[in-house]
Amino acid sequence: MPTDADDALRSRLAAAFPVGVVSCDPVDRVLLGTDGSKIRGNAFAVVKPTDEDHVRTAILFAGANGLSVVPRGAGTSPTGSATARRRQIVLDFSRMNRILDVSPRDMVAVVEPGVMCGELQSRAEAVGMFYPPDPASARTSTLGGNVATCAGGLRAAKYGVTRDYVLGLRCVGADGRVFETGGRSLKSVVGYDLTRLLTGSEGTLAVFTRLTLRLLPKPPHAATLLAEFADDQGGFAAADAILAAGVLPRALEYMDRDVLGIVAGDPTPRSGSSLLIEVDGSPADCRDQAERVAAAVRSIGALSVRIADAGDDRDALWAARRSISSAVYRVFGAKRSEDLGVPRGRLAEAVAAIKAASRACGARCVVYGHAGDANLHFNFPYDPAVDGAKAAVDAAVDAAMAVALRFGGTVSGEHGIGLKKIDQVRRETDARALELMQHVKRAFDPAGILNPGKAIPE
Ligand code: LAC
Ligand code: ZN
Repeated sequence: MPTDADDALRSRLAAAFPVGVVSCDPVDRVLLGTDGSKIRGNAFAVVKPTDEDHVRTAILFAGANGLSVVPRGAGTSPTGSATARRRQIVLDFSRMNRILDVSPRDMVAVVEPGVMCGELQSRAEAVGMFYPPDPASARTSTLGGNVATCAGGLRAAKYGVTRDYVLGLRCVGADGRVFETGGRSLKSVVGYDLTRLLTGSEGTLAVFTRLTLRLLPKPPHAATLLAEFADDQGGFAAADAILAAGVLPRALEYMDRDVLGIVAGDPTPRSGSSLLIEVDGSPADCRDQAERVAAAVRSIGALSVRIADAGDDRDALWAARRSISSAVYRVFGAKRSEDLGVPRGRLAEAVAAIKAASRACGARCVVYGHAGDANLHFNFPYDPAVDGAKAAVDAAVDAAMAVALRFGGTVSGEHGIGLKKIDQVRRETDARALELMQHVKRAFDPAGILNPGKAIPE
């Protein structure tokens, strides 16, 4: 229940900023305290900084008044990294959204955290450059959030993940002091690599106010292929065959029969799995790679191979792929989604084991995702109205995680820990390594002001 003291504190918070920067509106507090995890948030207040000074003021205010802060990009986190609770101030970065510099010669971009990933991709491409990280949410998620969670995405097979493109960070620490890590040099080995430590730390160590990101020259051309297979293992065998043929596609996206049915709106699709493959390079290079990919997938018995060379055809294939996560929600209403990774060579085996384990639990498991780096999304849909359905799914998820860990894999390939996976961190992380992480947290944030309760168990 809100108290008069809380309302007085909210008034003091609002008075510390220019008009319009703070919102204490109950609807804003719920909406902007809630993220893609759908865990219902309810923030103490929302601060919408327009500059670094506002970020400092909010952190200092939180520290002085027994509150904490939750940085928020666009709130797409599926694990609750941006969920804010009663004593937490949301720092909503939507107004710090300027692209400050795009330099083809230095091969860097400098941005504020609220810039959408897709906007930087377009701006870079307009000057012949390329920002490779491409989360499925590129058009709806911010670079600040991408860096805070080390987002992966659709081009990681060839180009790696967000951390591979973060050169430098400007941050506000828990004590309100501003500091910078890394910089504009493409290489530097001076000191510990705090840039990499902060990347993926989910706002628990510092709050970003500026990001220096690495760009590559834009590949002149890309070609997309869609191959269909009779059974659910075909897509994995094809991915192996493509790599064995010496081609490293930028994307190798797997979809199982259930997912294909959901995307096509057809409950009985003819294929048991599909692989969406994208190669890039010069036009001649793309032709050569596409031919080798087609030969490789035919060699393992593909039912069909389609090559989409023109932009529109490629966009249609990708639009369907990017829509999977929301489409599963639409069709089933409720699901648990897991984001597991395993060593590449054990992917097919792991998926078979996870599907068998979920069948044994009485749950359904639909699978799609990034076969190139062996990070797949396992969705467990259920009907909340059916007795025991949720319990079966919970058991299946637990079994799936156990399989991933048994195979030497991970319980979160790219979606972060947030609140949803916080209890799983101990399962995967070496005990001494976790202790060292806890020391690191205390060194950066001794009073627990920065997004407490996320990323690592404290
Ligand atoms: C995807 C998101 C869910 O790959 O990570 O579609
Ligand atoms: Zn993904």
